[in-house]
Amino acid sequence: MNRHLLPIILAATVLMACQPATDPTPAEPQVGPPDADEASLARAEAAIGELGMRLRAALQGRMQAEGPLGAIDFCTVQAPVIASEVMQAHGVRLGRTSERVRNPANAATEWQAAVLRDFAANVAAGEAPEAQRAVLRDGLPDGVALRFMRGIRVEAPCTLCHGREIDPGIAKAIAANYPDDAATGYREGELRGAFWVEVPAGIH
Ligand code: HEC
Repeated sequence: MNRHLLPIILAATVLMACQPATDPTPAEPQVGPPDADEASLARAEAAIGELGMRLRAALQGRMQAEGPLGAIDFCTVQAPVIASEVMQAHGVRLGRTSERVRNPANAATEWQAAVLRDFAANVAAGEAPEAQRAVLRDGLPDGVALRFMRGIRVEAPCTLCHGREIDPGIAKAIAANYPDDAATGYREGELRGAFWVEVPAGIH
């Protein structure tokens, strides 16, 4: 990629780094669930919405202050801090995961891996990645009221850092932080991974 063009493209697009599509889809109507379940789902959706908003706002500030390559460092250092603040504010646990992670700390747990497999199968069958939603209410561990996941689609800008042809400068910066990076080789429109949220029982 052209060296002079790259920062401009990054500046325009990197605002979405760490910031998968989070347009808030209204909760699907549930048939007669207890109010507590509805409250848990609303809490899960709200937490995801706030995470997306705060990542975006913080990343914009970072871009203005330090330019595009600073965004990679931002993802490494600030994204987990923001996630933990949102977790505290909403009283939930949350994060992002994928079948191919960049940060091993984001590796899917067993339940997350099972949902990711479902999402991947649905997408392979022609469904949209961002339309994937899973609400788990049954058979949860003690103290967990609800688990929720939402699929993340690879948008064009994401391929700058997760795609097939990554600019050497960016690739180098990524490799320095993530020697085991498996989150490349994606094409636009593919399933990149998912948000997950775990709502504890008894906090309504
Ligand atoms: C500036 C480079 C950059 C861009 C652009 C970018 N990402 Fe990332 N992405 C990263 C880095 C760095 C991490 C590791 C963050 C961490 O340590 O938790 C990451 C992690 C992720 C994760 C968490 C799972 C994992 O692999 O560790 C998801 C999901 C993700 N990105 C999706 C996206 C999506 C969707 C887009 C486009 C909207 C995007 N990214 C754009 C650099 C980028």
